[in-house]
This record gives sequence, C-alpha cells and structure tokens, in this order.
Amino acid sequence: MRKSILFHPEKMGSKEVLVLLIILMITKGECKASDGEKTCHPNDLKALIDFKSGIRHDDSFRLEKWIGRDCCKWDGIVCDNVTGRVIKMKLPGAMTIDDAPAQTSMDGVLSPSLSLLTSLEVLELSGLSHLEGQIPPLIGNLAKLRTLALSYNGLSGPIPESIGKLSKLEEVHLNSNNFSGSLPSSLGNLSSLGTMDLTSNHFSGSIPHSIGNLMNLVNLYLENNVLTGYIPKCIGNLQALQDLKLSNNLLTGGIPFSIGKLSSLRSILLDNNHLTGRIPSSFGQLKSLVTLSLQNNQLEGPVRSNLGQLQSLAELNLGGNRLSGKLPKTIGLLPLFTLSISNNMIEGPLPVEMSSLTNLSRLYLSFNPLNLSSIPTWLVDMPSINAIHLAGCGIEGEIPRYLQSAASRWAELDLSANHLTGSIPSWLGSFHLQHLNLSTNSLSSEIPATFISFEGLEELDLHSNKLSDSEVISS
Ligand SMILES: *[C@@H]1O[C@H](CO)[C@@H](O)[C@H](O)[C@H]1NC(C)=O
Ligand SMILES: *[C@@H]1O[C@H](CO)[C@@H](O)[C@H](O)[C@H]1NC(C)=O
Ligand SMILES: *[C@@H]1O[C@H](CO)[C@@H](O)[C@H](O)[C@H]1NC(C)=O
Ligand SMILES: *[C@@H]1O[C@H](CO)[C@@H](O)[C@H](O)[C@H]1NC(C)=O
Ligand SMILES: *[C@@H]1O[C@H](CO)[C@@H](O)[C@H](O)[C@H]1NC(C)=O
Ligand SMILES: *[C@@H]1O[C@H](CO)[C@@H](O)[C@H](O)[C@H]1NC(C)=O
Repeated sequence: MRKSILFHPEKMGSKEVLVLLIILMITKGECKASDGEKTCHPNDLKALIDFKSGIRHDDSFRLEKWIGRDCCKWDGIVCDNVTGRVIKMKLPGAMTIDDAPAQTSMDGVLSPSLSLLTSLEVLELSGLSHLEGQIPPLIGNLAKLRTLALSYNGLSGPIPESIGKLSKLEEVHLNSNNFSGSLPSSLGNLSSLGTMDLTSNHFSGSIPHSIGNLMNLVNLYLENNVLTGYIPKCIGNLQALQDLKLSNNLLTGGIPFSIGKLSSLRSILLDNNHLTGRIPSSFGQLKSLVTLSLQNNQLEGPVRSNLGQLQSLAELNLGGNRLSGKLPKTIGLLPLFTLSISNNMIEGPLPVEMSSLTNLSRLYLSFNPLNLSSIPTWLVDMPSINAIHLAGCGIEGEIPRYLQSAASRWAELDLSANHLTGSIPSWLGSFHLQHLNLSTNSLSSEIPATFISFEGLEELDLHSNKLSDSEVISS
C-alpha cells in the first residue's frame, strides 16, 4: 500500500513534476502504509505471514515478534536495501540466546507460499526438528536461490522437478528428513551446485545420469537412503568432486573405473551396498585420497599393489567383502591410521613391510584365512597401535610373552576364535585394555586374579574356553 499523494497536475510546473517523480522513485522500495508504517513487498509479506500461520509452536519465540507489515525488520529476514525484496530467510533451530548456544524447534507445516519469495537467495530452516510438510512444488520460481538448507526436520515428499530451474543454486542440504521418491533428473541442471546433501532420507530409484553434468560439484552426499541401480559411469565427469558418500544404500554393479579420474577426491565412502566386481585399478591414481571405505559389499579380487601410491591415505576400510590374495607389500608405504580388511579371504603371510606403518592406530584383520600361526612380532614395535583385531586368523600356541612389552599401550585386543592354548598370563590383567576378547580358544587354567581388579575394562569376553572359574565372563 502506498501513501496517497494528492496533487493537481494541471497546476504543476516542470520542477514540481520532477520532485514528484523523485518522491515516487524513493517510495518505490520502501512503501509506506497509511498509518506511516513501512510495508514490504506484498508477495513477500504474504509468503511470510503464511509461513508463520503454518507454525503451531515456536519455542525460539522469533515468530511472535513478526508483527506489522515491515517484514524486512523481522527476525531472520534480510531485505535487499535497493529493491526492498526479501533476499534471506534464516531461522535455524541452532541459535544463540543471551550469548549462549541454544537448540530450538518449530512445530508445524512448511507453507507452500514460500515460493512467492521470488528474490530469495538464502532459505535456511535447518534443525527445527518438528517442521513437516513438503518442499513447495513451485520452488523453481525462486530463480535467485543460492542456498537451500532444510536439514534435520520432518519434511517429506519428493524433490520437485522444478528445482532444476534454480541455476544459481550452490548448496542443497536436505539431509535428515523424511523425503522420498526418486531423484529428479532435473538435478543435473543445477550447474552452480557445489554441495548436494541428501543423506538420511528415504530416496529411492537410481542415481540420475544427469548428475554427471554438475561440473562444480564438490560434495555429493547420498548416504542412508534406499537408492538402487548402478553408480553412473558419468560420475567420473565431476572434476571438482572431493567427497563422494554413497554408503548405506542398495546400489549394485561395479565401481566405475571413471572414478579414478577424479584427482581432487579426498574421500570415497561406498560401504554397505551390494557392489560387485573388483576395486578399480584406476584408484591408484587418486593422489588426494584420505579415506577409502568399501566395507560390506561383495567386492572380489586382490587388494591391488598400486593402492600403495595413495600418499595421503589415512583410512582404508575393505572389511566384509570377498577380497582374496595376499596383502601387497606396498601397503607399508601408506600413511595409514586405520586398516580394516576383516571378513575377507585374504591369505597370509602378512607382508613384513606393514611394520613401517608407524601411524597405524587401528588394525582389523579378523576372519581371514591368514594362517598366522603366531602373532607377528613386528606388531609389538608399532608405536601408535591402539586396537588390534586378530580374531579367526589361525593363531596357535600360548599367548606369547613378547606381547608384554607392548600391550600396556593397547586399548583393544581381540584374539578370539583362534587356537590359543595354555593359560591366560596374569600380566595381561595389569594393563589398560578396555576391550579384551579371548573367547573361543582352548585356554585352560584359572582366570588370573589381576582380572578381577581390572580398571577401565569395559568388555571382557572369555567364553568358550577351558577355564575353570566360569565359562562366560562379560563385564
Ligand atoms: C546495502 O547493502 C549492502 C550489503 O548488502 C551494503 O554493502 C550497503 O552498504 C547497503 N547500502 C545501504 C545504502 O544501506
Ligand atoms: C518419518 O515418517 C515415519 C513414517 O513414515 C514416521 O514414523 C517418522 O516419525 C517420521 N520422521 C520424522 C522425523 O518426522
Ligand atoms: C533442464 O535443462 C534441460 C536442457 O538444458 C531443459 O530442457 C529442461 O527444461 C530443464 N529442466 C528444468 C526443470 O529446468
Ligand atoms: C604420519 O602422520 C603424519 C601426520 O599426518 C604425517 O605427516 C606422516 O607422514 C605420517 N607418517 C607415516 C610414516 O605415514
Ligand atoms: C589355512 O587355514 C585354513 C583353516 O584355518 C585351512 O583350511 C587351510 O588349509 C590353511 N592354509 C594353509 C596354506 O595352511
Ligand atoms: C568375542 O569374539 C567372539 C568370536 O569372535 C564374538 O562372537 C563375540 O561377540 C566377541 N565378544 C565381544 C564382547 O565382542
């Protein structure tokens, strides 16, 4: 609404007309209501009033201060100071109240009227917990949108096809909601997109091939959904990609060779899918890779020696597959903190080069036909090792005395399901182990008294041995 200006054009000279034009130009951006209060653009006002009326409860009390018509002054709203249009709407659940961080929530349904905010650049309604409803179907009208952040809510329904019109969109965060449906192929039109986070929803169907058009995509997070089908080969076109996370889906087929061309990749997480075939040889080219996690798939073939070229690799998780052959000597070249190959078909012996893994903190080798016979002596000299899992590795004989010098640095030791004989050495009870599993061996004699006063021990499993005190102890 505009303040009405009374004038008589027939009585005005050119100077007065100019003054009037200037007044009209100035008042264009900041319209004044008849009571003197400024009012924001009617579409923006309607969108925000509708949003507010969709919220039943707001324990941040931000919305109760949304009164009057000058929505540019409202909490969480920013207007362009030239056009007067709303450009940012930011009402995150995580906020600061009296300089202290606070987690607030809103109860209600997201209004579809938000699509009237046609100058909006940033829409951030994350972490409001009880915000329900859907992404407005006409979201594609927000042609200037750069950031769409709706994470950690109870939103549901599909991603509207019209999202493909948002050519300026740089970030989409829809993680941790109840969204469903298949991913629209129009996502491939988002040529400015840097981050797509759709983690922890119920998205189904296959990953659209159009995703290969997203030349600026840095982070692709699709974990914890029910996506099926193949990982599209064209993912190898995403030259800017650094983080690829597709874990916990139902993906099938092989890992595309083309992923090995993505020289900026820092992490690849494909755990808990149904992927088959071999680890692509092209992975040896991923010089920036820090994390490679392929656990619990049906991958086969060897752990390739060219993985030893990954000069930044800190975490290699290959457990729960059907990998075979011997571990390559080159594994000793990696700056690994975690190495996990449990539950595969890897054969022994272990390459002695593993003793060069001076940063290695966690080692999981359980349940492979390694036929180790004895615990490798070099393990004792590894300076950083903290967790050792050698269950079901064919270890025989007594628990060796040479462990005594090192075991005081260890927090986890799993030697279960081997062929250990003799007695449990009492020195084992005087260390700082938090988890000790010696179950399913042939250990005899008594449980040493040192175990009774074991401080810091969280888990002790000695079941299925020939111990005289009791069959099962778990604490
Ligand atoms: C308008 O806003 C921009 C930033 O959005 C700021 O740099 C500029 O100083 C503002 N102009 C006026 C007249 O307030
Ligand atoms: C998601 O939907 C399921 C039912 O489909 C419901 O039980 C659950 O509470 C919803 N989660 C959220 C966060 O709203
Ligand atoms: C996506 O782009 C294609 C071709 O560039 C175009 O035909 C299509 O209409 C666009 N889709 C959307 C939803 O913008
Ligand atoms: C150990 O880690 C440090 C810090 O990440 C790194 O600089 C160093 O090269 C690593 N050493 C080995 C032997 O991997
Ligand atoms: C390794 O151990 C498995 C069972 O533990 C046995 O079947 C296999 O023959 C052994 N292999 C060698 C080379 O000793
Ligand atoms: C100890 O090892 C056995 C056999 O490997 C396993 O079944 C059991 O769950 C383990 N105990 C604990 C407490 O993890």
